[in-house]
Amino acid sequence: MFQPDLLAGKVVLITGGGTGLGRTMAQRFLSLGARVAICGRREAVLEKAVSEMSASTADGDHTFADRIFAMTCDVRDPASIEALIDGIIHRFGQIDILVNNAAGNFISPTVRLSPRAIDSVLNIVLHGTAYMTLELGKRWIAHQQSGVVLNIVTTYASTGSAYVVPSAMAKAGVLALTRSLAVEWAPYGIRHVAIAPGPFPTEGAWSRLAPTPELADHMVDRIPLKRVGDPTELANLASYLVSDFAGFINGEVITIDGGEWLQGAGEFNDLRHVTDEQWDHLREMTQK
Ligand code: HXC
Ligand code: NAP
Repeated sequence: MFQPDLLAGKVVLITGGGTGLGRTMAQRFLSLGARVAICGRREAVLEKAVSEMSASTADGDHTFADRIFAMTCDVRDPASIEALIDGIIHRFGQIDILVNNAAGNFISPTVRLSPRAIDSVLNIVLHGTAYMTLELGKRWIAHQQSGVVLNIVTTYASTGSAYVVPSAMAKAGVLALTRSLAVEWAPYGIRHVAIAPGPFPTEGAWSRLAPTPELADHMVDRIPLKRVGDPTELANLASYLVSDFAGFINGEVITIDGGEWLQGAGEFNDLRHVTDEQWDHLREMTQK
């Protein structure tokens, strides 16, 4: 559905781009002509991702090897972020698009959490996203360069959710950051957008949020479309949102969840379990 050069000339930085949704976005952006930088804490994971993506091609001829770059970075550490951005600029000369995708999360009753457990999620998701956005935004503004920031949040950034409370707090903060900077930095030509995914079965998420088959099946039951998301569907949405074709979308969050959160929200949505026979009876009662 996209022009093959949709992102040609753009340099995209994806935090947490060595695994899961970040990795799928990296692959998609490469296939649309971008140069892509990925980061994460584990060097071996990044090396594997780079070697696999380098070997792939868009046209069966030219590989992506000269358009992919990886460097370890801990987004909780501002010095590490500075070194990463210096490294990417040294390699590609610029950064046009930032995807704040790195995250930490796990299910737990809140009463069981230690202060360190709360910080472990808040530091990656809320502080990491803010540090990364601030470091790059300051440079864009100083050099009068425009840019796009895409923040990956979740549907419960808006609704809240039990049993993932630090994540809900952090993602709500990232959504507030998105909407706030969409206004404050628009005069500099910097656009902010967000994607709120429902369940996409990545290894990182499922091992921490749905570690049993029962919990994984329950994820599907909650979705009106009766399936989980395919990471390429999210990567396509991301490609559009960071592209110039979405140039007038600013401060918006797009949900991609098969209708999941709405099903949980609608007052009468559970009536889908009512049988035809029961409906006959109910009609008699209500029409009377
Ligand atoms: C209770 C836990 C815990 C758990 C860790 N802790 N896991 N407490 N239940 N399952 C506690 C530890 O005991 C410790 O507290 C504190 O948290 C820090 O733990 P560390 O292991 O030292 O933290 P760290 O090495 O910084 O790792 C961060 C992490 C880890 C978040 C805990 O899971 C991680 O690295 N995650 C990165 C990838 C990830 O989470 N991906 C999923 C994203 S999916 P004490 O007090 O004991 O020292 C997502 C949205 C999904 O975000 C939505 C689906 C619909
Ligand atoms: P994932 O594979 O675990 O991705 C998380 C990435 O973040 C990993 O590559 C991890 O690499 C990196 N990361 C974690 N802490 C970091 C740090 N301190 N510094 C730098 N990088 C760090 O999980 P995913 O499912 O693809 O999640 C991607 C994004 O989608 C997250 O923002 C998540 O909240 C969001 N999301 C996912 C789902 C879903 O169902 N999968 C639903 C809603 C939202 P290292 O561990 O090597 O650092």
